[in-house]
Amino acid sequence: SVIAITDVLTGKHPVDQEITVHGWVRTRRDSKAGISFLAIHDGSCFDAIQAIVPSELDNYQSDILKVTTGAAVVVTGTLVESPGQGQAFEIQATKVEVLGFVEDPDTYPMAAKRHSIEFLREHAHLRARTNLGGAVTRVRNSLAQAIHRFLHEKGYLWISTPLITGSDCEGAGEMFRVSTLDLENLPRTDKGEVDFNQDFFGKETFLTVSGQLNVETYCCALSKVYTFGPTFRAENSNTSRHLAEFWMVEPEIAFADLSDAADLAEEMLKYVFKAVLEERADDLAFFQQRVDKTVIDRLNSVVNSDFVRLDYTDAITILENCGKTFENPVSWGVDLNSEHERFLAEEHFNGPVVLKNYPKDIKSFYMRLNDDGKTVAAMDILAPGIGEIIGGSQREERLDVLDQRLAEMNLDKDDYSWYRDLRKYGTVPHSGFGLGFERLVAYATGVSNVRDVIPFPRTPNNASF
Ligand code: 4AD
Ligand code: MG
Repeated sequence: SVIAITDVLTGKHPVDQEITVHGWVRTRRDSKAGISFLAIHDGSCFDAIQAIVPSELDNYQSDILKVTTGAAVVVTGTLVESPGQGQAFEIQATKVEVLGFVEDPDTYPMAAKRHSIEFLREHAHLRARTNLGGAVTRVRNSLAQAIHRFLHEKGYLWISTPLITGSDCEGAGEMFRVSTLDLENLPRTDKGEVDFNQDFFGKETFLTVSGQLNVETYCCALSKVYTFGPTFRAENSNTSRHLAEFWMVEPEIAFADLSDAADLAEEMLKYVFKAVLEERADDLAFFQQRVDKTVIDRLNSVVNSDFVRLDYTDAITILENCGKTFENPVSWGVDLNSEHERFLAEEHFNGPVVLKNYPKDIKSFYMRLNDDGKTVAAMDILAPGIGEIIGGSQREERLDVLDQRLAEMNLDKDDYSWYRDLRKYGTVPHSGFGLGFERLVAYATGVSNVRDVIPFPRTPNNASF
């Protein structure tokens, strides 16, 4: 099987023996002495391995001197300890096979020079080849695996919740419709409305905005569960932290209140950042150097700090008295914007903040009403540099209160009959949260736009590739 370059560079292969590596050329450098140096990477780690290619090779003139950044090669040679600075090992090549040249290297978009992040975004199908694209991908993978590992070790069951749904979990009306109806020939009811009874599912359906309502059903039977999958929002927000398609991790815990959910969220964030600091030191060093000088310190400080916990009402007091003028003025009852969230997490506390007990009118129907009758047991976790990274709540487990909230929000009880059943049959206090996975990756890499931490971003007017 193919040998991974990370294993070679970390000393897992014996030196002074023959080895074959497969990969792509990052750079080629020719010395006057008639040798070429190829830096070869295969995505398994940040670093490339250097192959020293002597001009004596049969295909030196015909192939090696035509090799450019991006060419695919198979190199066989002797693995030796590297006398130079940098890598510990290099390969004295005895054979270099070029599997694929780069046609017309002058116009190859990913040629070795540095690219702007916007340029890379326009070449999403090629950007995984860049240092940045590779590093983001490895960190993203490390975070995803750490999330599964953390929840698995704590006894959470991973539930696959549906992507196609009939309910709007967040009630924000930001759903993409799923339909097989013929747009040119829409079936109509007697009243002239589109007749969704004739649609594939016999009703109007959408791409899900959250797996929460579905995962609650499993929580109310299996206690500790989570869902981790894509979610979709047709919100027309052209910001650096919104995507139309993003991934969300949603743990749901039975017999648990809001502070249990906050504890789990804090422990999970620390666990996954610690994992990435350990597993991806190479990529983080790159981010630190190229993207954000504070990223490693920031991750360490999250791992080592206690998250501030603060009531919404107290946050409003802080914001009202901080002496700063915000674009959107604050007063009790308003929803917080990213400028407020960032002020709290960056300037005021300079660390993650769990903000809780929001006014009920700015939150979803399913959040548990507090005894004061005007706030709900909701929480948002705000992180410096990005703002809201997690949103969660204790769920309303009392059927009468839930019904009252549905009515207040003009939601039809009958649409939620299955959800109400959970409250009718053996109801329990339960809580959970949703972690926006791209915001997590952005935070862990210092990359400032979530579009650059998902392989193929979906945003308004952008669904190419
Ligand atoms: O705060 P939200 O809307 O919460 C929910 O969907 C709950 N049902 C979750 C739950 O309790 N199980 O979304 C949760 C998180 C946000 O904090 C944010 O990190 C991320 O999802 N998020 C987005 N990320 C990228 N693009 C978007 N358009 C996002 N909208 C939310
Ligand atoms: Mg939210």
